[in-house]
Amino acid sequence: MTSIMASKGTSKTPVDDLSEKQAKVEHARLQAEIAEHDRRYYQEDAPTVSDAAYDALRRRYDAIEVRFPQLRTLESLTQRVGAAPSARFAKVRHAVPMLSLDNAFAEGDVVDFVARIRRFLRLGDDDEIAFSAEPKIDGLSMSLRYEKGELVTGATRGDGTEGEDVTANVKTLADIPHRLKGRGIPAVCEVRGEVYMTKHAFLALNKRQAETGGQIFANPRNSAAGSLRQKDPSITASRPLGFFAYGWGEMSEMPADTQSGMIKWFEHCLFKTNPLTKMCRSVEALLKFHRQIEAQRAGLDYDIDGVVYKVDRIDWQERLGFVSRSPRWAIAHKFPAEKATTVVKDIETQVGRTGALTPVAKLEPVTVGGVVVQNATLHNFDEIARLGVRIGDTVQIQRAGDVIPQVLGVIEDKPRGAKAYPVPKHCPCPLKTEVVHEQTATGEEGAVVRCTGEFACPFQAVEHLKHFVSRRAFDIDGLGEKQIEFFYEQDWIKEPADIFTLPERNRKIHLEEVEGFGEVSVRNLFNAIEARREIALERFIYALGIRHVGETTAVALARGYGSWDAFHAACLKLAKDDAETKQEMDALDQIGDTVIESLHDYFGEAHNRRRIEALAKQVRIRDAERPRGDSAVAGKTVVFTGTLEKMTRDEAKASAERLGAKVSGSVSKKTDYVVAGPGAGSKLADAKKLGVTVLTEDEWAKLIR
Ligand code: IVH
Repeated sequence: MTSIMASKGTSKTPVDDLSEKQAKVEHARLQAEIAEHDRRYYQEDAPTVSDAAYDALRRRYDAIEVRFPQLRTLESLTQRVGAAPSARFAKVRHAVPMLSLDNAFAEGDVVDFVARIRRFLRLGDDDEIAFSAEPKIDGLSMSLRYEKGELVTGATRGDGTEGEDVTANVKTLADIPHRLKGRGIPAVCEVRGEVYMTKHAFLALNKRQAETGGQIFANPRNSAAGSLRQKDPSITASRPLGFFAYGWGEMSEMPADTQSGMIKWFEHCLFKTNPLTKMCRSVEALLKFHRQIEAQRAGLDYDIDGVVYKVDRIDWQERLGFVSRSPRWAIAHKFPAEKATTVVKDIETQVGRTGALTPVAKLEPVTVGGVVVQNATLHNFDEIARLGVRIGDTVQIQRAGDVIPQVLGVIEDKPRGAKAYPVPKHCPCPLKTEVVHEQTATGEEGAVVRCTGEFACPFQAVEHLKHFVSRRAFDIDGLGEKQIEFFYEQDWIKEPADIFTLPERNRKIHLEEVEGFGEVSVRNLFNAIEARREIALERFIYALGIRHVGETTAVALARGYGSWDAFHAACLKLAKDDAETKQEMDALDQIGDTVIESLHDYFGEAHNRRRIEALAKQVRIRDAERPRGDSAVAGKTVVFTGTLEKMTRDEAKASAERLGAKVSGSVSKKTDYVVAGPGAGSKLADAKKLGVTVLTEDEWAKLIR
């Protein structure tokens, strides 16, 4: 397996060595970072990190949750799939959620996957498990709903629960039948699969787009997504898109009882299925399939980023079920990222929302996996030092299916560059503010170098505004990153409150006369701004872009304080070092020192207080809703102990988690139930000592029924 460098979002401390407090902080930070990457990937079709870097973040996040299950809340990424759909299309609720797949990178991960299945199903080493092995198409997943054989809805995955209605567009795809013909077609069939664009068509489309000044797509996946999400279906029709069927959602009847049987049935209904799909009956056969497909990869006319293994028997799939966002019965075995060598022409520093300076290598253009790469991230200045990269060096870069590749290392036997890139002492912004080195939790100098200019630094101010209007914050239609940059340059929007006074100030500005706007778009923009004058408290808090206050933290703060007035008052007291307020905040679920310190610093700055007051005058902030669980065990902590007779321990755990309960391995005061089977020992004794409710397996079954 290719080694993947630590992304800028992961700390170097092994997960096993993290204290609970550190884990909480990192979990929250990773959650916000991953959510942002999801948004860029799913909604803007413009990812900014490589798949490998994303996967590294995701693995660390998952590992933290495995070690600290108490961090897993409803807002947790493991409970969600992808990002919310963009607002341009009507929303469709999926009858059966569209989930995602867990990833295997190394062969050992595949061995573990099969062993897990054996354990879960209590199969012996000699019992055969048949798998359907398929290429993993790098396109976008689609759910096609047929009622009485008629195609009624085509929907994107969206956040897994709700997608976008792109029916008119999918009807233009030759691979998608409008009617399912033949006898015995179930009354309701949801056929799922992947929409993709061939590499050929992608290159030809980009060529045409370049000639006509249209949008250039980074890769076939993005061009398939862009082509499908067109308001005008005739544009989709002009783009050659294909569709492979590989799964299903709601089915009023099942035409087959295996995955391979379903694939045959799709073919019978005139869907295309992937011709490389193969049955494999052992780990060795799966690994061989992986190697074979990888060898064929470059010659295929569509992008694939791995292979998928699925348990063939559907009754086993049902028993195995899901663990949070992915099925236990399937896994994606990814391919290593694609690599190339090229020369570093220059190194530039970019400034992010929080002021972190990120060095970016400007490269001699090079083609990696069919895409021309000119920039690669160096993450931070420690990384430059670690790799020893100098301007003029020949480096190896890695790209994994998307936009921002990474520099992996210097090719030592090529002529070396003479020019080292020093850690900047000043921000590249016009203010040239002095930078600071972030301290790590242990007080050491961290890898991150930050500009201290905050809103006075135009780069940070613009990034803050972009965050403010982003999907999960104020989500203002027609006010995206480009518009923010433009309005900022024009001095029309310098801080969030200015967005809401823009319609009034337009009497002097006359935006409708500016090239590229026009009356209709200005009216739409102003309507969109008006529509967002009312906002939920958690979104408002998240939108402020306070360091360490990501979505989960914002929700926790909103729930803890209930109203803006209460939260605001607490933050002002906190800024004045009020010990009682600090204690009160510390007592909130999911809030710890890092967040408190960050709020203290933020509200300690007069300019932040002024901005917030100006903004709060422009909007109405809705009080937070109280959390409501609808199952009897939602939010409860359960411990299973002893031998369970009706189900395996894994099954019991999975069903409890599905109902919103937390399953813990040890009994404490916080435990709500201990489910004890025969042979229960010390945990049962602990429960009795602490007065925790003890249930038999049957009583538990009754409770969750
Ligand atoms: S099965 C329950 N099979 O990969 C999940 N997915 O990472 C069922 N994908 O959202 C998915 N090729 O967009 C499946 N042969 C294949 C696939 C495939 C590509 C995509 C799909 C899914 C994503 C999960």
